[in-house]
Amino acid sequence: MTATVNNSPNLVSSPPGTPILEARGISKAFGHVQALKNVDFELYPAEVVALIGDNGAGKSTLVKILSGVYRKDSGQILVEGQPVEFHGPVDAQRLGGISTVYQDLALVNVRDVASNIYLNIEPTRFGIFINFKKLYADAQEILHRLKIDLPSVKVNVGELSGGQRQAVAISRALARGRRIFLLDEPTAALGVEQQDKVNQLILDLKAHGSTVVVISHNLEHVFKVADRLIVFRRGRRVGTRLKSETTKEEIVGLITGAIKGDAVEAAT
Ligand SMILES: Nc1ncnc2c1ncn2[C@@H]1O[C@H](COP(=O)(O)OP(=O)(O)OP(=O)(O)O)[C@@H](O)[C@H]1O
Ligand SMILES: [Mg+2]
Repeated sequence: MTATVNNSPNLVSSPPGTPILEARGISKAFGHVQALKNVDFELYPAEVVALIGDNGAGKSTLVKILSGVYRKDSGQILVEGQPVEFHGPVDAQRLGGISTVYQDLALVNVRDVASNIYLNIEPTRFGIFINFKKLYADAQEILHRLKIDLPSVKVNVGELSGGQRQAVAISRALARGRRIFLLDEPTAALGVEQQDKVNQLILDLKAHGSTVVVISHNLEHVFKVADRLIVFRRGRRVGTRLKSETTKEEIVGLITGAIKGDAVEAAT
């Protein structure tokens, strides 16, 4: 089966097969601000998708709808082709295998790396006591899988650098066995070396079969890791491109509106 996702006549723009997650015709308003207007979005297995667009384009709003934080006003979400309703983050995790890493990371600074990775899902003995031996061994194993180098799984997260904290947040998502990772601006506050680490993590997640969506304003970055780029502008999807079929110039044109995107003719 071949899936063609955009109406552009001369572009392929998507991998073949059924999307593992699909959003169709999603709209969302906040009062009189129409944050998303009839947006389609689809993810395929083991790909890295960059979601890009100017401030206020609707990127975070879509991520929050896909992670069950916001309710959509209209539209449909499908997991493996089956329609689903996310009534909250637990549904998105359980039904969609979706895990989100937000900018603020939501780590507990006064607890150690292992406890943060397994927060609320700590292995126990007799269902009561935390099995610390297993906790530390499992945490070590996750860090090893992601090739993350930390001083120790027993160090408090508050003592780590921005990049290391990002790595812990991503490990936490992986520990929950998710197959879709939504990363909202994971590198915005990081130095170059740490940014490279996060990029490497993204590629490692993909190598483990996961699909990663990365929101970023940094096109250099995005071009390093993404297989596909999806551009939002003013609440609409205006372009979907395989990295191999586009250039930074074209993407900038889509972001700014200098290049008329796919959704523009259909708009308003
Ligand atoms: N909780 C909210 N209440 C009211 N308006 C909101 C809310 N969240 C988003 N908006 C509005 O919806 C629009 C889209 O916002 P969103 O945060 O999705 O943009 P974004 O593409 O993530 O931008 P940025 O790159 O700046 O993070 C904006 O106009 C924003 O002001
Ligand atoms: Mg945002």
